[in-house]
Amino acid sequence: MSQPLRLSADQPGIARAAHLLRQGALVALPTETVYGLGADARNARAVAGIFEAKGRPSFNPLIVHLPDVDAVRAYVHWTQTAEMLASAFWPGALTLVLPLRADSDIAPLVSAGLPTVAVRVPAHPLAQQLLREFGGPVAAPSANRSGQISPTTPEHVTQSLGTRVAAILDGGPCPVGVESSIVDATGTASLLRPGGIPVEALEQALGHPLEIRDGSEAISAPGQLRSHYAPAASVRLNATEWRDGEATLGFGKMVADLNLSPSGDLTEAAANLFGYLHALDATGQPIAVSPIPVHGLGAAINDRLTRAAAPRD
Ligand code: TXA
Ligand code: MG
Repeated sequence: MSQPLRLSADQPGIARAAHLLRQGALVALPTETVYGLGADARNARAVAGIFEAKGRPSFNPLIVHLPDVDAVRAYVHWTQTAEMLASAFWPGALTLVLPLRADSDIAPLVSAGLPTVAVRVPAHPLAQQLLREFGGPVAAPSANRSGQISPTTPEHVTQSLGTRVAAILDGGPCPVGVESSIVDATGTASLLRPGGIPVEALEQALGHPLEIRDGSEAISAPGQLRSHYAPAASVRLNATEWRDGEATLGFGKMVADLNLSPSGDLTEAAANLFGYLHALDATGQPIAVSPIPVHGLGAAINDRLTRAAAPRD
């Protein structure tokens, strides 16, 4: 059985991992929580490759990993809540959801088209060294196929992903073993996912109780979903012809205002999806989308389009 490249925990290994990330390859990296399946967060094709490798049926937003607070602050609008939690727990097993800066070069697929982004400064020395050597944002979910248990050793990564990942930076077992706690820090702090930092510790750092919230919770304002990007305009799916006044999103041979992938490549289509939806939505016209095949990444694309097309009130 062929296996991903195993990179040693030294300078040549780290340099090779950074080089692969720059080339748009997927690299599994150790963090203190679990192994992450990393890609350059600015490279939409590489990020689409994460979803392909995981076999996820939908596009969950990903966590962006950066080496320190200063690097994070270049990408997000910082808040007082973020300051309190970051000063107590970074680097460490805490992820903060914050407003994404409009001028950021993060691929829209990373945040699944949302105006917020999840950011984390991992404490693992190898993750730290790789992030510094790479010098950019690394998007990384846990390095396992969808529905399988989270990987805490390089062997777990190999068993789950095989050669879907180009290389694994070998850091041995992960010390924490559960994913990071995720806190929405855009306001007064609410817990989106319990994880490596106990709730009590988070509350102590904040000086008040945490609101506990499920990230999939529905609507905070009309037409605005918390965890799913929804266009303001109506969306018509599986259109085989265009109607007057529509902003059109094509796939394959269909001639349209924007085409997700003229060659019919679903990875390219995934990479373009959220950026193109935003662009069409900005025209203020109703959006029509041609049929997208349901195999491979097409399942996640159709899932997201179906949500975008769902009636809202
Ligand atoms: O410990 C960890 O957090 C690991 C290591 C690799 O860092 N990563 C990880 O990523 O667990 P993942 O993809 O399994 O979890 C990301 C979760 C999403 O499923 C979603 O619930 C939440 O983070 N998330 C990301 N961006 C968000 C956003 N803008 N708003 C709300 N939730 C978000
Ligand atoms: Mg996971």
